[in-house]
This record gives sequence, structure tokens and C-alpha cells, in this order.
Amino acid sequence: MKLFSLVTAVILTLTLPRTATAAEPIRAIYLFKDVLKFNTTALTTSNFTTLIIFGLGITEDGSIKYYSNTPGSVDKVVATNGTYVGGAVLTQRVRSLKTAVNSSVSRVEISMNSQNVRQLMNKPGASVNTPLAKNLAALRSHWDLDALSNNDGSIYDLASTVAFAKLVGKLGYKYTILPWQNVDYWATLVRELNTEALDDNDELLDRVYLQCYDGGAGNDPRSWWARLGTRVVPLVWVTNDYKPVYGSTPAQARAKFSNWKARGSVEGVEYWNDYDIEKTKPPYAAYGDALDSVFV
Ligand SMILES: *[C@@H]1O[C@H](CO)[C@@H](O)[C@H](O)[C@H]1NC(C)=O
Ligand SMILES: *[C@@H]1O[C@H](CO)[C@@H](O)[C@H](O)[C@H]1NC(C)=O
Ligand SMILES: *[C@@H]1O[C@H](CO)[C@@H](O)[C@H](O)[C@H]1NC(C)=O
Ligand SMILES: *[C@@H]1O[C@H](CO)[C@@H](O)[C@H](O)[C@H]1NC(C)=O
Repeated sequence: MKLFSLVTAVILTLTLPRTATAAEPIRAIYLFKDVLKFNTTALTTSNFTTLIIFGLGITEDGSIKYYSNTPGSVDKVVATNGTYVGGAVLTQRVRSLKTAVNSSVSRVEISMNSQNVRQLMNKPGASVNTPLAKNLAALRSHWDLDALSNNDGSIYDLASTVAFAKLVGKLGYKYTILPWQNVDYWATLVRELNTEALDDNDELLDRVYLQCYDGGAGNDPRSWWARLGTRVVPLVWVTNDYKPVYGSTPAQARAKFSNWKARGSVEGVEYWNDYDIEKTKPPYAAYGDALDSVFV
């Protein structure tokens, strides 16, 4: 019995995830609305530290496309044949997210699904000399991007995802994920990409954004943290008229975040998304303040 407890204790000590010393509080929000259309001033001065641009995708030839999710906007190829083609206005707008006067933002990510990744990793492969790699490199330098976020919710192909993530790392991006199900798959991916010797901040896959609404409404950040062994940033949906039952007011968001933080399982907090905030019109700052009070 005694030996059993000792062994159990050792195993627990070895397998419990380490808590990273966050360089700064993670207070993030997804930019679902077209980057050219949302209120940049409000968004960059409401104390968010990370902005994630939603809706980038890879086409069959390895070009990068920015898919419009905003009425009146059109889908746009932003990098092709190794060259940035998104235009100067878009470049300036994305860069301003970090450089605007009084901006609290220090990290900008692009969120991508996994369409065409398996095919392109197979042929022409995961070299930095492929069109896809050159396109990602061009996009990163024009937009001054910090990370690429994988929001795959349907393909889950481990080998090509590992190859792609390593390629992305070589190009200078950090890599993040946005799971809502399939914890075993994501846990394997984390193990393939990260070396437990490093602080989470130094790992290639340095953040896990966990969807905690809609299909992921039952997700417990603490159990994901234990399974993945890396920091978990729970994602909450703001007040919205699409699926109102999953929306949280600033006060409800604050209560959720405080509760998760008290359980010691999260290292930051995050919202889905700016489009709904602008539509339902609570001030951005109210959502930002809900984060400040939890993650100072
Ligand atoms: C943008 O947000 C700022 C700060 O909240 C506000 O003063 C301004 O009126 C907003 N602009 C538009 C066009 O909504
Ligand atoms: C692709 O880029 C190469 C080298 O920059 C250039 O010579 C070629 O014309 C481009 N092809 C297309 C289709 O734009
Ligand atoms: C930046 O913040 C300072 C201090 O709060 C304020 O006085 C100034 O007006 C702000 N500048 C802009 C452009 O918002
Ligand atoms: C931003 O958050 C910090 C805590 O991290 C807080 O001290 C500060 O007052 C907040 N600033 C604004 C403009 O809300």
C-alpha cells in the first residue's frame, strides 16, 4: 500500500503539467470581422494582448487566402507564388494592431483550418523552398505575425499536421491550436511537437485555446490541461444573436474566468469574437475589463 502510494506520487509528479511563467497576461480575442472593417481604436485600447485574425486558408497550389466573413467583403488571395499580394492597405491595417498609439496588443496570430495541408505536405513536401512555405514567410513578414493557429475541426491528420507545424516553426511562427473535441489527437500532437524540457513559452506549440461553448460547452480547462500538459486558454463566446444561449455578458465571462482561474488550470482568457461585440454593442472595454480583473 505504502509502496503503491509512493509510486503513484512519483507518477503524478512526473506527469502533472508544468505551469509556465507567462511573459504577460494572455487576454485574447478573435477577429472574425474583416480586418479592414472593425473599430481598430476600440479594439487596440481595450487591454487585449493577443489578437487572432480568423479565416485564413490554404488553397490547392499553396496560396494563402483570407476568407471574408463580413457582409460586403470578398475573399482575397493574400500570398501566392512566394509573394505577398494582399496590398499595402491591408498590411498597414494589420501592422497597426500592434503599432497604434496606446495599443495593448503585443501578439497577432492568423487562424487557419487544415484544408489542403495533407496534400501539400505529401507533395511537394515540407521544405522551406515550397510555394506554401514562401507564401507563409511573405505573409509573416508583411503582417509582422507572431503565430499561426490551427483550428482544424474535421481532418485530424497527425503526420501532415506535425510536418506543417514544424515548417511553420522554421519560418519563425509560434504554433497554437483551437480544439473543442478529440483530446487524444491533440495530446498526441502536443507530445510530437513539444519537448518537455522547455518552458511553455519556448515551445513551438506554446498555447492551447480551448473552445468552451457550443460543441465545446462541456469542456473543463483543467482536465484538458492535465491531458495535454500545456497551458490552456479557455475561449468564451460574447453576447450574440446567432446562438444566444452560448453567449456570455462581460459579467458572466468574468465569473467563468474567475472560477477557472481559481481551480488553477488556466493561463489566460479569450473571447470569440469582435463581430458580435460590434453587432450587439456592449463596449469592447467592458469585455476587456472583465479580463483585467482576472488576469492582471
Ligand atoms: C470606435 O471606438 C471608439 C472607442 O470605443 C469610439 O469612441 C468610436 O466612436 C468608435 N468608432 C466607430 C466608428 O464606431
Ligand atoms: C512566380 O514568381 C516567379 C519568380 O518570382 C516569376 O518569375 C513568375 O513569373 C511568377 N509566376 C506567376 C504565375 O506569377
Ligand atoms: C494615449 O493614452 C494617453 C494616456 O492615457 C492619452 O492621454 C492619449 O490621449 C492617448 N492617445 C491616443 C491617440 O488615444
Ligand atoms: C489594463 O490591465 C491592467 C492590468 O493588467 C490594468 O492595471 C490597467 O488599468 C488596464 N488598462 C485599461 C486601459 O483598462
